[in-house]
Amino acid sequence: MSMWWFIVTTLAISAFICKSPAYAYDNNPLQDICVAVNDSHASVFVNGKICKDPKLATPNDFYFAGLNVSGNEVSGLGFALKTVYVNDMPGLNTLGISIGRLDLEPQRLAPLHTHPRATELITVLEGTLCVGFLVPDPANFFKSRLFSKILNPGDVFVFPIGLIHFLYNVGHKKAVAFGTFNSQNPGFVIIPNSIFASNPPISDDILAQGFQLNKTQIAELQKKFS
Ligand SMILES: *[C@@H]1O[C@H](CO)[C@@H](O)[C@H](O)[C@H]1NC(C)=O
Ligand SMILES: *[C@@H]1O[C@H](CO)[C@@H](O)[C@H](O)[C@H]1NC(C)=O
Ligand SMILES: *[C@@H]1O[C@H](CO)[C@@H](O)[C@H](O)[C@H]1NC(C)=O
Repeated sequence: MSMWWFIVTTLAISAFICKSPAYAYDNNPLQDICVAVNDSHASVFVNGKICKDPKLATPNDFYFAGLNVSGNEVSGLGFALKTVYVNDMPGLNTLGISIGRLDLEPQRLAPLHTHPRATELITVLEGTLCVGFLVPDPANFFKSRLFSKILNPGDVFVFPIGLIHFLYNVGHKKAVAFGTFNSQNPGFVIIPNSIFASNPPISDDILAQGFQLNKTQIAELQKKFS
């Protein structure tokens, strides 16, 4: 009887372990790359940041001042970003949240980009923005659907995690928006720059075929983004 009970229990536990989703996933990455050190004696450099001794934490670890003013303009592009990620506010470590401020001059664009680790919720404080994100069309891998809106102060819009999106100032004065992210380090992949300004460059055979352009056109694009 007790042997029977032991077998049933063992089978039940095994089935639970094999099926439980908790055993089926790796953690989400917290940075772009995390190269393993092949040395068990190497100093700790965990996924994220190592923790300060809690006794040494101070209120300033949880504080950031300065979202009342714009960040520095990205030269020539008419947009400025100021981020409050874990590097800017150490108290955010492990909390899965961060914020940033975007300032856009009229007719200027926050170019097509994605945040590989976060959904972004934006709130417009000033100005008028045309925003949108692209969703692959499940009916056709080679197409996408655009979800776009014109936003005014007080309007909120969400860019789902990983999807390509843009923000464009369609008004006549500066626009200001705050974006909040469900990651301490959301990542920022600007699509055109990633593709045409990589180091080393992607072969022009690949880019020409990938974008159905000729190599002269590819060279022009690489020059624009370099
Ligand atoms: C990692 O370390 C082990 C033990 O020192 C060694 O056998 C192995 O070749 C190393 N692997 C790499 C990729 O360096
Ligand atoms: C912005 O906030 C900082 C710190 O809180 C303050 O020193 C500064 O005067 C403020 N700037 C403006 C333009 O309000
Ligand atoms: C590349 O394409 C452009 C635009 O169609 C055309 O004007 C140009 O002559 C082409 N260059 C080459 C080398 O094929």
